[in-house]
Amino acid sequence: MRTPIIAGNWKLNNTISEAVALTTELKGSVTDCTGVEIIVAPTFTALHAVSDVLKGSNVRLAAQDVYWEDSGAFTGEVSAPMLKDIGCDYVIIGHSERRQYFGETNESVNQKVKAALSHDLKPIICVGEQLEDREAGRTETIIEDHITGGIADLSDAELLSSVVAYEPVWAIGTGKTATPAQAQEVHSLIRKLLTDAYSDEVASQIRIQYGGSVKPENAAELMAQPDVDGALVGGASLQAESFAEIVKSTL
Ligand code: PGA
Repeated sequence: MRTPIIAGNWKLNNTISEAVALTTELKGSVTDCTGVEIIVAPTFTALHAVSDVLKGSNVRLAAQDVYWEDSGAFTGEVSAPMLKDIGCDYVIIGHSERRQYFGETNESVNQKVKAALSHDLKPIICVGEQLEDREAGRTETIIEDHITGGIADLSDAELLSSVVAYEPVWAIGTGKTATPAQAQEVHSLIRKLLTDAYSDEVASQIRIQYGGSVKPENAAELMAQPDVDGALVGGASLQAESFAEIVKSTL
């Protein structure tokens, strides 16, 4: 049985005080939610304050990116041991916005995934096709490329500590959600790719989140799909109430 996992990706939003207010409200709204893993991913600058607010709660902390070296002359970067030190359990890696605007590639995703895992940080590895890929019938090829490239050379145990997030780029921030059937089709493809690369036993345990315009209104239907194990939520995670409703859609 896979425990559902709902993560809020706050992207480039919230000052420290706004992040603390949102976290405090959210923490209060989900105290009774058991049997679901709940995660928030603030900006680097708010991680410390949010980590303090989350102490003793059932909400876990994630960063939105990580660098693969532990320390050294890499101006502007933040490493896995630093994120662990600040209280992160998870880190989002390879989000389409990082691929699109910041030159993230399958190779850099793979290096970051390995660095995270070696410091006991669980990676949320994002994959997903652009609209033109889907229209040209290339969805499967792109997903296979992201999965085999981003997840290369992980042990069974490392893969089991990872989460995959399927986020069709055309559904991110656009209000256009993939239909539950479209999401299920790609989630089951991802599980098949992992079965081929690892084993049925490993693939059946890994959690695959859907992301792209998830809202309280569409969450339950998406979560009801057999291979959809949770959600990576952008816009709707910036309001405690809507994020809490999405969390509760898994219960
Ligand atoms: P969205 O973003 O929910 O605003 O579409 C999802 C994401 O990019 O993780």
